[in-house]
Amino acid sequence: MMETLTPWQRFWDRKHRIYASERHREFHYRRIAEDIIAELPHAEAILLDYGCGEALQAERISRFCGRLVLCEAAPSVRQGLVARFGSNQRIVVLAASDLGQLSASTVDLAIMNSVTQYMSADEFDHVVAKLRLLLRYDGRLIVGDVVPPGGAIVGDVASLLRTSIEGGFVIAAIWSLVATLFSPYRKLRRKVGLSTYTEAEIKARLARAGFHVERRNRNFGFHRGRATYVATRTR
Ligand SMILES: C[S@@+](CC[C@H](N)C(=O)[O-])C[C@H]1O[C@@H](n2cnc3c(N)ncnc32)[C@H](O)[C@@H]1O
Repeated sequence: MMETLTPWQRFWDRKHRIYASERHREFHYRRIAEDIIAELPHAEAILLDYGCGEALQAERISRFCGRLVLCEAAPSVRQGLVARFGSNQRIVVLAASDLGQLSASTVDLAIMNSVTQYMSADEFDHVVAKLRLLLRYDGRLIVGDVVPPGGAIVGDVASLLRTSIEGGFVIAAIWSLVATLFSPYRKLRRKVGLSTYTEAEIKARLARAGFHVERRNRNFGFHRGRATYVATRTR
């Protein structure tokens, strides 16, 4: 059956130039992998990465857990994941709509990094409720890279430039900033916008869904102006 994709999901499903270069793409996924590995509770943990994107470091992450479920809405991204990781016995690739295939109360850690901004608040609540059912009691949901209201483009530019100095891709970053001015990303951001949350708002939403929530001292990834929340299932 043909899936209906939201405008943002269609964006991620097509070829895009979000990363300034191959080096930037690898640098990004390496950092996300380090952040995820640091949060794994034990070596046999079942880990669910919701909206995982290309998950370039999935192979490495899978060596630190019992099972890694990569869940992604964009069909072409999923195809790439299956092609890359299909032969790894510890990695499973699922469509976002197939979360129901997982057994309730089995997941130790669920990650949703840099995804909340691309879904409506209602969809966020819906997904969080589904993830809560999948988590074990005491399991954790980490919601990362949450964009605060007024999270202006200037902050994104500063973040990219800072990251490019650390990662050694400054020239590519400058070119990519120029290209971004005319990119589909910018048009869509203007037209559809990004969902944003204050700390109080997102904590209240997660608490209503049955979680105890703390803000993590550092955001996942490189963006210092965004936030990560650690939500523990309490009921
Ligand atoms: C910015 S990328 C983040 C990828 C990865 N989590 C990371 O931290 O680099 C956003 C991803 O979320 C996916 N996505 C967007 N809306 C989604 C939804 N409603 N359900 C599942 N995935 C979604 C997109 O297809 C895209 O791969």
